Amino acid sequence: MLLRLYSIIVLALDLMTLLIGVFFSILVTLYQTFKPPPLKNLQREVALVVGAGRGVGKEIAIQLSQLGVSVACVDINADTCNATVKKISQSLGNAKAYICDVTDKNQVSKTVDTVISELGNVTILLHCCGVPSPRALIQDPPEIMHTMNLSILSHFWLLDSVFPRMQQTGKGHIIILSSVAGLSGGSSAGARVPLSTAQFAVQGLAESLQTELRHSNSNIIITLVHVYPFIVGIEAATDIRFRIPSYFGTMSATEAARQIIDGLRRNYAEFSVPGYLLYLGHVLRILPKKASFMLRDLLDTGVDFA
Ligand SMILES: *[C@@H]1O[C@H](CO)[C@@H](O)[C@H](O)[C@H]1NC(C)=O
Ligand SMILES: *[C@@H]1O[C@H](CO)[C@@H](O)[C@H](O)[C@H]1NC(C)=O
Ligand SMILES: *[C@@H]1O[C@H](CO)[C@@H](O)[C@H](O)[C@H]1NC(C)=O
Repeated sequence: MLLRLYSIIVLALDLMTLLIGVFFSILVTLYQTFKPPPLKNLQREVALVVGAGRGVGKEIAIQLSQLGVSVACVDINADTCNATVKKISQSLGNAKAYICDVTDKNQVSKTVDTVISELGNVTILLHCCGVPSPRALIQDPPEIMHTMNLSILSHFWLLDSVFPRMQQTGKGHIIILSSVAGLSGGSSAGARVPLSTAQFAVQGLAESLQTELRHSNSNIIITLVHVYPFIVGIEAATDIRFRIPSYFGTMSATEAARQIIDGLRRNYAEFSVPGYLLYLGHVLRILPKKASFMLRDLLDTGVDFA
């Protein structure tokens, strides 16, 4: 009898602690929407940007270099990768080009070793490849194996090489980009399932890493960025039409990169580009399936990534 009473009191106390904790973190989040955490200084950090040859990856590499970061520009295309480095050098930033096929584990590990010996320990990892572009909506979908290699497995090869070092030095920031928007519809139903499956896998990867790191006392930060927009670059194809720009306007790769770096510098665990759509994404999940499909139809968009 007494034991029972005791366990009920313990349970009540636990529940109360939980409620106060939950309430408090909601308050903090609300407060931070009005007063975001300060921007951290990135001077002398070393960033490895995968997909630095074009699109958002290129803009991220350029903007990071302007903040005093040494940037390892990684791309499979030597011409565009060198062009990004040239552009950074012209504005007196520090960057080097590394040509690497990130779907190849051996190449990745060799490249990371070279980066570390030439620029120093990698403290920021940004993978900007494999996020579907609007072109993916109208082109023939790539082979399933290739999609998995580029969008998921390459993350593991990079983490394999970069993560242990970060744990040794006790410092690091891994930014994982994912986009599930813009993949519904299209003429060939089902053809884009591998693409969006890969995007969900990437989100799962980010959440698994966050859960894993929660119980270790390392200072490694994992940031998951949901890229929602209709990023339309200069090369925007006129044959691709999105419904959403007419409602919300378009966003350039430069602006998207600016928002991604802003969230990175505030150490957010999860955010979206544009910011307000994160909540919409959450709402989609609690709505009945039919309603969420209707909302998705309205939001049918694409992203233009490297
Ligand atoms: C790119 O730059 C690297 C190193 O600076 C050089 O070895 C390579 O030949 C360049 N490639 C092209 C296609 O310009
Ligand atoms: C890189 O990290 C290693 C430990 O993993 C450390 O011994 C080394 O001094 C670091 N290098 C630099 C340039 O900070
Ligand atoms: C995917 O990666 C594996 C292992 O690296 C490789 O054997 C395979 O050829 C790749 N497939 C494609 C389509 O790139």
